[in-house]
Amino acid sequence: MSKVVKAPASFSQTMVAWQKRHGRHHLPWQNTQDPYRVWLSEIMLQQTQVSTVLAYYAKFLEHFPAVADLAAAPQDQVMGLWSGLGYYSRARNLHQCAKDVMTRFGGAFPQTAQDLMTLPGIGRSTAAAVASFCFSERVAIMDGNVKRVLTRVWAYEADLSVSKNEKTLWQMAEEALPTQQLKTAMPRYSQALMDLGATICLPRKPKCDVCPVSGECQARALGEPEKFPVKTRKLKRTSEVLWLLLAHNQQGEVWLEKRPAQGIWASLYSVPVFASEEALKEVLPGHGVRLKVQALPTFKHVLTHKDLHCHVLKLELKRAPSTPHSGGWWAERDWSVLGLPTPVRHLLSNSL
Ligand code: ADE
Repeated sequence: MSKVVKAPASFSQTMVAWQKRHGRHHLPWQNTQDPYRVWLSEIMLQQTQVSTVLAYYAKFLEHFPAVADLAAAPQDQVMGLWSGLGYYSRARNLHQCAKDVMTRFGGAFPQTAQDLMTLPGIGRSTAAAVASFCFSERVAIMDGNVKRVLTRVWAYEADLSVSKNEKTLWQMAEEALPTQQLKTAMPRYSQALMDLGATICLPRKPKCDVCPVSGECQARALGEPEKFPVKTRKLKRTSEVLWLLLAHNQQGEVWLEKRPAQGIWASLYSVPVFASEEALKEVLPGHGVRLKVQALPTFKHVLTHKDLHCHVLKLELKRAPSTPHSGGWWAERDWSVLGLPTPVRHLLSNSL
């Protein structure tokens, strides 16, 4: 009697089978192949947890059901709805991307990772996510979670802060992609990597006992899964001192200006920001006359690359200050829906 010998399942086959049985299936951006919805979720999920994204995702789709609606919206509305999600360059790029989809692609997202990458805010991994989820393209995703999964499975110990090493990992990821039944396998495989990274292959204390690929995981075999990925170059942090002018008038309105398109808090509304106390005081009306100025407690706001040390001077003004960007007086019911940096929103909520 002849025996049929079955080849052992490949890494991608194991991942696909695991996703089908044990992965996440009910996130609102799953079970759709609409590239607008998938793209929107991927941008929001870039630096933000699923639990935080859920409400913002629903709100955006309510206001902008299709890419044409987002493209046609005023920038202030987009920034206002994004307010609180952080990393505001994502919102500016999101809006520009929607406009580019309308003007460059006639309102339909392009269907290949290569073309998707030409759009603002869409990098190689986001392009691959959209192309594999929506169009089953055979392309590799590589976000932080995926890097952790793959470097562990292969015990890839080269330093990922060296770009040549990261390129090699991309290549290995491409070689590991599914080879059969791509129509269903590609979206499932991308989702499998994300799900495994988010729920099992955790940075600390990975749950190797329930991992579908623990048997072939070389980092586990070495006994040190947490050592991977190897990344030596730490983010260089800088710090900056800011002086914030918290000016209100007798009606309780606050002076806000729209930040320029470049630099800190770009395109958001903010209280005026200065590099020094002197620079701040120069814009006060009747410069030189004594005004009752109150110094509020200094606070630190931590950004990805930078610590902001914020000093705040609060005062009541009868006339507008001569601040550098186009400003105006705002009542609470109007400023509460603006796109404001988180520390500025806290300041207005707690210190006015
Ligand atoms: N993080 C990035 N993309 C994701 C997705 N599609 N599902 C869950 N988490 C993600």
